[in-house]
Amino acid sequence: MQRMKLSGWIAMLASSAACAGGGRAPRPTASVRREPFGTTDRGEAVSVYTLKNTHGMEVRALNYGGIIVSLEVPDRHGRFDDVVLGYDSLEQYQRASPYFGAIIGRYGNRIARGRFTLDGRTYTLATNNGPNHLHGGVKGFDKVVWDVAPFERRDTGGLVFRYTSPDGEEGYPGTLRATVTYSLTEGNELIFDYQASTDRATPVNLTQHSYFNLAGDGRGDILGHLVTLNADRFTPVDSTLIPTGEIKSVGGTPFDFRTPTPIGARIDQDDEQLRHGRGYDHNFVLNKGGKGGTGGAGGEGAAVTLAARVHEPGSGRVMEIHTTEPGLQFYSGNFLDGTLRGKKGVVYRHRSGFAMETQHFPDSPNKADFPPVILRPGEEYRSRTIYRFSVQP
Ligand code: BGC
Repeated sequence: MQRMKLSGWIAMLASSAACAGGGRAPRPTASVRREPFGTTDRGEAVSVYTLKNTHGMEVRALNYGGIIVSLEVPDRHGRFDDVVLGYDSLEQYQRASPYFGAIIGRYGNRIARGRFTLDGRTYTLATNNGPNHLHGGVKGFDKVVWDVAPFERRDTGGLVFRYTSPDGEEGYPGTLRATVTYSLTEGNELIFDYQASTDRATPVNLTQHSYFNLAGDGRGDILGHLVTLNADRFTPVDSTLIPTGEIKSVGGTPFDFRTPTPIGARIDQDDEQLRHGRGYDHNFVLNKGGKGGTGGAGGEGAAVTLAARVHEPGSGRVMEIHTTEPGLQFYSGNFLDGTLRGKKGVVYRHRSGFAMETQHFPDSPNKADFPPVILRPGEEYRSRTIYRFSVQP
């Protein structure tokens, strides 16, 4: 496949830095490159962008849905593996993807019966998940082609994704201008910065839907991963996964991940909530320690705090998640059932990947007591999530 170097200017930056340094060897910088990745059913050209830092950590993402198709991360011996689930071709992403690696919007997670009332008017959205609306609808932000601008800053390479969602798209009010920035740092962090503005009041809840297997994509189930969640409480759900409105303590339940616990330790217990989710598929209320996070739609001014830590003992890989968001959907891949074939023909069996979606709580447009998700004209939606990778001996 022909490689189109987007980053001539990046190389120039590197060489001018070297000149400024009086002839010292050029400082290695993160690189960005672009290659074609097919054409959508609607005839739009899709590209895959590769970000690589100088430690060899590499992210590949599409302008289609902002989908992260691969993420190469070192294990405790410095060996790299791809730790996210996904497909080899655009055609597969378009045909049947449970949101592998994608940006989710306008509203991550569920809105009960696809209905909400805002400023006295009732809006009807698609019901694409049983009786409910899920992840922005039939054609959410995961299925649109975004404008992408690569960038290179000192010690960071990244991609800026822009999409303007027209008034009425998927039933949502107002024209929403969304910007999502992926940054890969020299500290082996992948940072997501979300921004949005609107010309009419609308719910907004943007997130990222990568599925992880820190042992490596295709290396079995994720039940042995040790999860720690910085959450004393969670939001129990009904049988269609809509929160009941209760905010419940995790104490004495299989939802207590306050100390490192294997995902599989309690997942099949006879527990009503686990039955509803067919495992973990729940929103955890993150402990914010008085650092905000329950402000406006974007948690404006909220501090980035620790949400989760996941450790895969076999490889030693650790992923820490930090976020400004008040909630985290921990989904243990319960709906993967062996019918999808992923990269290199791998069969995605039950619980072969997990997702940790930083977010405001599900069904917030219908829950007055949950942190608000309505963005109004003149306000700016802002949210930040950091995935930090390291190893533990
Ligand atoms: C939801 C799951 C759903 C998955 C893929 C998760 O965010 O909570 O119920 O199956 O996304 O659609």
